[in-house]
This record gives sequence, structure tokens and C-alpha cells, in this order.
Amino acid sequence: MAKVRTGLIGCGKVGRIHAAALSRLPESEFVAVCDANLGRADAFARQYGARAFSDVRHMLAQVPLDAVVVATPHPLHAEPALAAAERGVHVLVEKPMAASLADCDAMLAATAKAGVKLGVVSQRRLYEPVVRMKAAIDAGKIGRPALGVVLMLNWRDDSYYASDPWRGRWDTEGGGVLVNQAPHQLDLLQWFLGPIEEITGYWANLNHPSVAVDDTALALIRFADGGLGCVVASLSQKPGLFTKVHVHGATGASVGVQTESGASFVAGVSEIADPPLNDLWTVPGEEHLLAAFEAEDRARFRAIDPTTHYNALKIEDFLRAILEDREPAVTGRDGRVVVEMFTAIYRSNRERRPVRFPAPGAS
Ligand SMILES: NC(=O)c1ccc[n+]([C@@H]2O[C@H](COP(=O)([O-])OP(=O)(O)OC[C@H]3O[C@@H](n4cnc5c(N)ncnc54)[C@H](O)[C@@H]3O)[C@@H](O)[C@H]2O)c1
Repeated sequence: MAKVRTGLIGCGKVGRIHAAALSRLPESEFVAVCDANLGRADAFARQYGARAFSDVRHMLAQVPLDAVVVATPHPLHAEPALAAAERGVHVLVEKPMAASLADCDAMLAATAKAGVKLGVVSQRRLYEPVVRMKAAIDAGKIGRPALGVVLMLNWRDDSYYASDPWRGRWDTEGGGVLVNQAPHQLDLLQWFLGPIEEITGYWANLNHPSVAVDDTALALIRFADGGLGCVVASLSQKPGLFTKVHVHGATGASVGVQTESGASFVAGVSEIADPPLNDLWTVPGEEHLLAAFEAEDRARFRAIDPTTHYNALKIEDFLRAILEDREPAVTGRDGRVVVEMFTAIYRSNRERRPVRFPAPGAS
């Protein structure tokens, strides 16, 4: 099989999951790792037989690479992505694609100019209950998707924010729950109901005085085809309760997923404890399928390592997109929409008015 020579930039918590996939996937020849902390890169290099670097440009100059996975903190996604594109190297970047629209636009322009692919990690799109929802919506089984609801009631404690100096700060993280935890569900919502016409947003810090950023955010969304959306994303419920994405159609039928049953996992720290499940399925004539979906999804969950499985599927899709010269399942344009959503929510909160799309760049 043709292989893609791969490198990893960012050997932190989620980097461990990426490195495991890059070393195992048959499409990947995992040759180089880079971390600003050379000790971390060295440890990965020893484990995987790759070369270690502390400087991205140095790595790109020294090692012939076809693709890199960028897993640095979000405001630091653009710089290595631009360096890779300049060298003609394909880029798969962690979520959120960036902390600002300016960074997204620079990455889109650089990869387009270089003729390389730009993908964004959004592995919850690959959860089987989510795939089922998308197929049902696309098949018209709920009619026009008319109302989308994201309800994330989650928890992070002070030790989470203290675990890395960049977390919980506007300058080094770019935001809070909206930027770090909610992008997966914002992506699903816009995938199911987009494109977006207008957003009204609010945020607050309800019970995390040790950090400045939002632990809770709300948004009301009007979609271009007349659909409506509502987002409640919070890290203030102890213990974390659940995260759900529900879509109600114009026919009155509904489909939904519970992506997390309690607090969502923290990559490199905890494991995914419970399976994602369809928790709502009122498609006429298919109501009885819900129990079968659940049995199937619980059986699969026991058979796989869910913490690494969906991430590996995501990387596999990106490597195959390179080998088959097609678009990855989640493109840079898709990733930019999520950044546009949280940028608009912050702006709406600040200016106390709805923000129309395309949203202005400054957050
Ligand atoms: N898809 C998911 O479910 C998921 C899960 C966790 C994290 N993430 C994303 O992955 C990214 C990293 O998160 P994390 O939890 O692994 O953070 P982390 O702090 O554990 O790791 C980041 C690593 O990047 C390194 N780094 C920083 N600047 C660098 C530079 N210029 N060049 C090379 N290395 C550099 C740091 O030294 C650190 O080792 C974030 O954007 C986060 O949102 C995604």
C-alpha cells in the first residue's frame, strides 16, 4: 500500500492519541515528531522510532514529509500549519481549527496556494449514532431540519485549568467552553442545519473564578433556510450531566444523539466511559429501531477502544483523502464555520445585538 510520510506537531495529551494512530495505520509512515518541549518530542520519538524536533521549520527542512497533524494549543495551530503548507505538506489540524477567523483565513489561503489538503479533527461526526442522524436528515426522514438543540451540561474543575498554563486564558486559549469543549457539538449543529444566517449569544463565568473565560455560553441561531437553533454549553454542573444534540424536523419527527452521558473525557487524562447513543428517534415507522440502535452501539463500544478508535478513523480518512486526491470528510471550510460561530457569540455578547453571517473577523 502507498504510504503517507507523517509527522506530529504537539506531543501533549491529545498528541498521544494521534501518535498511536499514526504509528498503527497502514497508510502512515510515522517519521517525525515536534514539540516546543524537546523532552516530550524525545519521549515520543523513542516510543515510535521517529525523529524528534523542537522547531517545526527545522523538522520540515530536515525530514521529507507528506502530511502533519497539528496538536498544539489552538492559538498556535496556524503557525505550524502555514509552515507545513509552504513546504507542500498536507495539514490535519486539531479542533478548534484556530482561535480566530484571521488564523483560519491564513490557513485556508496558504493551503490553497500550495495545493495541499487542510482537514480539521471533528471525530464525533464519525460516531455511528451521529452518522445515522445525518443519513436520516439527508434522506428527508424528518422533513426540513427546522429546530436544532445543543445541550451540554458538563464539568471541569480547577485542576483541569491548572494542568497547562495556556488553559482558561483569553490570550493563550482564545476563550473557554465555546472554544475548547463545544466545538464538536457546534460542528454537528451546523452540519445538520447549516448554513447560518444570524447568531445571538451570551456568555458568563458561573462558578470558575480561577479563570477569566466563559464556563457557560448560550446562543440562538437563525439558519439560512429558516431553521432555528439553540445552544446551551456549560462546564458548571457538578457532576457533568450529559451532552445532547437533537434535531426536530418540519414534519414533527425528531432524531437525536447523546454524545456524552456525563462529563466529557479529557484526552490523555481520562477515557470515554459510556457509548454515544441515539436518545431520540421519532421517524414515522422507525420508532421501534431505537432499542436496536442502542444494543448495536453498546456492543460496538465494548468491542473497541472508543478513546482512540474514532480519532484513528479521522486520521485514516485524512490519509486516504491524500492518497485518493479527494477532500477530507471535515475540511478547513467546515472548521472555519465553528470558529465563525464562537467568534459571533462572543461579539454578540459584547455588542448586545445579533451578529449576521458572514461574521466580522475580530472577536
Ligand atoms: N479532538 C479532540 O477530542 C481533542 C481532545 C483534546 C485536545 N484537542 C485539541 O488538541 C490541541 C492540544 O490539546 P492538548 O490537550 O493535547 O494540549 P497539551 O497542552 O497537552 O499539548 C500541546 C503540546 O503542544 C506543544 N507546543 C506548544 N507550542 C508548540 C509549538 N510552537 N511547536 C511545537 N509544539 C508546541 C506543547 O509543548 C504541548 O506539549 C488543542 O487545540 C485541543 O483543543 C482535541
